[in-house]
Amino acid sequence: MTNEINHANPAALHSVPYHVGIIMDGNGRWAQARGRPRLAGHQAGVDNIRRILEASVRYGIKVLTIYAFSTENWQRPMDEVMGLMQLLSLTIKRQLNELHKNGVQIRHSGRMAGINPDLQAQIRHALEVTQHNDRIILNVAFNYGGRAEILDAVRQVIADGIPPDSLTEELFSRYLYTCDLPDADLIIRTGGEWRLSNFLIWQAAYAEYYTTPTYWPDFDEEELYKALLEYNARERRFGRVLQQT
Ligand code: FPP
Repeated sequence: MTNEINHANPAALHSVPYHVGIIMDGNGRWAQARGRPRLAGHQAGVDNIRRILEASVRYGIKVLTIYAFSTENWQRPMDEVMGLMQLLSLTIKRQLNELHKNGVQIRHSGRMAGINPDLQAQIRHALEVTQHNDRIILNVAFNYGGRAEILDAVRQVIADGIPPDSLTEELFSRYLYTCDLPDADLIIRTGGEWRLSNFLIWQAAYAEYYTTPTYWPDFDEEELYKALLEYNARERRFGRVLQQT
């Protein structure tokens, strides 16, 4: 029984990552494997966010950043792009109250420009309503690109007239969309690829990386537990040498 996963016992984990980023890949393949349209996979993907959010609260994760729509995703077929926009809109309509009641603080990382003004208003409303919640932060990376984020930050640093000598990593971090959030500790990618795909490229500089072939809609609490176990087995050195005994 020693190898049995005991996901009912979060205490078995000696360290829990504070900030987890998830690249939710494999929705399309999940749908294709069932002979269903890609959007059915994205809908199943949305349903799974709820499940993993609840599990994250149980494990003590404090910030969950999910990659929901990248700046590159605009190049997908128009019906898929519109479908993803609609899904976010419907999800906010249907789930905001419940998320708020459960103490979830919603954040947005990404460019507002380019998003339909009605959806922008819905996003702003969700951020405002939940801003004082503190059970977990659900940071939705939507119309997000890591390079665009760095570029936007550089532009603002220049616009603010920050003298080059006083610009530190810490100050620069505050200009990113993630602003006061700490760096990511663990990046999980579902769907089997080994790529960061322009996700949290500044914030994940020292994150541990975990990938699984499981498609996002099938990534359940047990899969999350496996990722956390793997994280526990890693030795985080942040570029240093561990002290010799
Ligand atoms: C990748 O699957 C996933 C995405 C493009 C984004 C993930 C989106 C969701 C979970 C739904 C939208 C979320 C919100 C909050 C509205 P893929 O299509 O690349 O899958 P594939 O690699 O199998 O084709």
